[in-house]
Amino acid sequence: MDTLFCGFLVWLAALCGISAATPSDVEARVADLIEKMTLAEKIGQMTQINGAGGTLPDDMRARVRNGGLGSVLNEVDVEIVNEIQRIAVEESRLGIPLLFGRDVIHGFRTVLPIPLGQAASFNPELVRRGARMAALEASASGVNWTFAPMIDMSRDPRWGRVAETFGEDPFLTSRMAVAMVRGFQGEDLSAPGNIAACAKHFAGYGAVEAGRDYATTNIAEHDLREVHFPPFRAAVDAGVATLMTSFSDLNGVPATGNRFLMTDVLRGEWNFDGFVVSDWASIEQLVIHGVAEDARDAARQAVDAGVNMEMATPLYRDHLAGLIEQGAVDPAQLDAMVADILRVKFRLGLFERPYRNPSDFPATANDEHLELAREAALQSLVLLQNRDRALPLNRTELRRVAVIGPLADDEYEQLGTWIFDGDTSITRTPLSALRRQLGDSAEVEYVRAMKNSRSRSTEGFAAARDAAASADAVLLFLGEESMLSGEAHCRAEIGLPGNQHDLVRTVAGAAKDKPVIAVIQAGRPLTLAPVLDQVDALLFAWHPGTMGGPAIADVLFGAESPSGKLPMTFPKMVGQIPIFFGHKHTGKPPSAENFIHIDDLEERMVQYSTGLVASHLDAGFEPQFPFGYGLSYASFRYGDIAVSRTSMALGESLTVSATVENTGDVAADEIVQLYTRDLVGQMTRPVRELKGFRRVRLKPGQKTRVTFDLHSDDLAFVGRTMERITEPGVFHAWIGGSSDADLRVEFRVTAAKPEEGS
Ligand code: NOJ
Repeated sequence: MDTLFCGFLVWLAALCGISAATPSDVEARVADLIEKMTLAEKIGQMTQINGAGGTLPDDMRARVRNGGLGSVLNEVDVEIVNEIQRIAVEESRLGIPLLFGRDVIHGFRTVLPIPLGQAASFNPELVRRGARMAALEASASGVNWTFAPMIDMSRDPRWGRVAETFGEDPFLTSRMAVAMVRGFQGEDLSAPGNIAACAKHFAGYGAVEAGRDYATTNIAEHDLREVHFPPFRAAVDAGVATLMTSFSDLNGVPATGNRFLMTDVLRGEWNFDGFVVSDWASIEQLVIHGVAEDARDAARQAVDAGVNMEMATPLYRDHLAGLIEQGAVDPAQLDAMVADILRVKFRLGLFERPYRNPSDFPATANDEHLELAREAALQSLVLLQNRDRALPLNRTELRRVAVIGPLADDEYEQLGTWIFDGDTSITRTPLSALRRQLGDSAEVEYVRAMKNSRSRSTEGFAAARDAAASADAVLLFLGEESMLSGEAHCRAEIGLPGNQHDLVRTVAGAAKDKPVIAVIQAGRPLTLAPVLDQVDALLFAWHPGTMGGPAIADVLFGAESPSGKLPMTFPKMVGQIPIFFGHKHTGKPPSAENFIHIDDLEERMVQYSTGLVASHLDAGFEPQFPFGYGLSYASFRYGDIAVSRTSMALGESLTVSATVENTGDVAADEIVQLYTRDLVGQMTRPVRELKGFRRVRLKPGQKTRVTFDLHSDDLAFVGRTMERITEPGVFHAWIGGSSDADLRVEFRVTAAKPEEGS
């Protein structure tokens, strides 16, 4: 239906004579317009204000009519959008249409799992389709620009905004970034239903100190280029139309005033020709950061750094004309910055198709969208523990099921952070899905037990205990409410909040030998040890979105096997953070042999023979669950790892492959992962780097060989002079079902082309 519908729109566009403008057409039209614009109109293009929430005040009308605005954010009443656009196009002197921006982060009316959950699917095509769906739904409300994808790299689950990221790994994040950009923008930005994407937040935001939102970041240039930049580079190469700055201070220069980021790297090195928008009031915040004397100075620094459009605050409007008059800003630079904005508007086809007619788009939350949301939720579910194969539950053996917890039946909380437009009336909760699937065959007793996930009251515990005691199986729906993650919602402790641990103990004690299953919804990795001790199985569901309920029920009853894998390492304790699989080796790497636990320390100085290693005495060096980890109802045997040749020259490729066999008794998806390590480099190298992944479906007994291509460029890293290089030398490659994979092969990269047959 989606494809058919798009085909129809393309046909319609062709019929109306609308087609994508060529790059030279666009440049000519941009230049022509710039020539005609007054300084005030140029500054207008660089200004974005917040919408008035479904109204159109007179002063906004006047500003649009005078060419004083380039964009409005947060207006999703399509009639108001069209009216604002009509004034811009028909009543302003030059008729330049506006951009309507909105945070369409993980769906629109139909809500998909939070991006961190989507990353757990390791399925970029699914992510692309999700973004396409969101673009269609948002387009019907007049949105033509989304502030997504968020592709900050974070290794700190305390940071509330990890929910919006694709996790800790730059390779996975880059793949997801490209997928989302393609989903929002399509092949041709001007085709109906495509909207401009915005890669954010450039750059380094995910490294905020102690995971406190908006805090300082100090990131060595090497790490910026190796870890934080690659997803942005990938988005730029995929044609992302816009970028947003970060609120954070990067190495002493706040990102919004950072010329190195936006001019030297983004434009100079990556040839980006779209535009950069500030984050909300982040230009004004240059004063609060203490790098700008006043608002005028802040505006000057932001322009100098390369911020084309100001979000929400009026510093450009108030000060740019004066700055130009006083010679503090070069008019040619201003023209170039306005040209970047106009270029995006032309590419979007806004001059040809400024208005949105909702009936041109499929109905929101239609069956196809709901099915996509179910599939996305399903593929994001990660099974973290399954003792004695407690899951799946056998429906036919259940007469009475206890469903307990604050997140079993909450239409809002399961949608997660950033769901301005999410429609809670279409949410399918786990409780409703379980009831539906069980029908009359079993009685479901639901006890919410806690008002919300933070509650400290134990008032509902007695009912929970009774329900658990009389049930054949206990399903606990625990986790974090949506407001515990997201912007400015960071946590210093990342265990289950409130009295949930007590609830788990109470219920597990009452259930005796009946299976106790925990389903956890959360916006970040949590420290789960106290829960893992008490329950038989634990399914991690992130905030799964509109269709989380049916997806969870399908997995609990075995209609589907869980297949998600962790996109972020789960620590045992907060003190281990930052903990991530791609760390450096160090000069004293820990291992099971040389690690001493705090309880085993017997004598002073015992650590001189062992124990002087990069580890914690109490937590050890291993996480609770590694990146890439996730169980299945099937089991997979990996074997026969091989390289197509043991040596390749720079500029050449080889393949790494292994067999994967489903040795279980159900069909299931497995995410096969490829990791490499460069054994010796001019810079220290990570112990493992993710270089490939593939989702494969295998029937019981089925065996397949999964092959990954590896070009020598894929092994490149940022060297001492900040250039990307691949060095000749020995590499290890692993293929397996997590970053702990132990099936290894070795190959060599040589400077010269190797002899035939090597
Ligand atoms: C602030 C957030 O940091 C950013 O991600 C978002 O797009 C803007 N506000 C607009 O809502």
